[in-house]
Amino acid sequence: MNNIKIAPSILSADFSKMGEEVKSLEESGADVVHCDVMDGVFVNNITFGIKMVEDLRKITSLPLDCHLMIVHPEKYVERFAKAGADIITVHWEACQDNLKEVLELIKSTGVKCGAVINPDTPVSKIADVIPTCDMVLVMSVFPGFGGQKFIPEALDKLREVKAIVEKCGKTIDIEIDGGVSAANVAEVKAAGANVIVAGSAVFKAPDRAKTIAELKA
Ligand code: DX5
Ligand code: ZN
Repeated sequence: MNNIKIAPSILSADFSKMGEEVKSLEESGADVVHCDVMDGVFVNNITFGIKMVEDLRKITSLPLDCHLMIVHPEKYVERFAKAGADIITVHWEACQDNLKEVLELIKSTGVKCGAVINPDTPVSKIADVIPTCDMVLVMSVFPGFGGQKFIPEALDKLREVKAIVEKCGKTIDIEIDGGVSAANVAEVKAAGANVIVAGSAVFKAPDRAKTIAELKA
């Protein structure tokens, strides 16, 4: 099995002290910083963009996992890459006709790429691009907000993605995002996820290091 990485989502951080929040993740043993970029069009929420990634890059060496919940991601890929993203993931729902090209564009910038599917999108929609991805992200909530309830149907989709990844014989990370906590992390790992996004579970925890360790164990 791939090694488990915990990717706290800074969507649940205090934006007025983002630098300290990311430093605290680093000290608490996080493996990745999950950056939820929302444009108010693809989802009903607005967060932050390229400048945040650029500024976080100056203060942390943790990989920056940029989850783009935006329309026309191809317009911004190069700037996120230049800002210091380590991986950029794009939704099938945002680029149904050009997902393959967008993934190639991401790779051409030297950054890792990933495809994302919403809870109501079947794995079959991205099956053909999975072998070209560094990571596949299965959403276990509808994107837009932290603190939502885990949709258990995502477990079957993780198993389906895992079967495709194993068949193609490449090292491809499988990420799960939405409603993950210590209560269900064992299930998502058993279903095949190795990159675990956790927003509210980490940021609301009284002891972040303990929570990250629990998620990882
Ligand atoms: C939802 C975001 C998630 C979210 C996860 O649109 O993509 O990354 O912040 O937060 P929790 O873990 O609280 O569901
Ligand atoms: Zn996310």
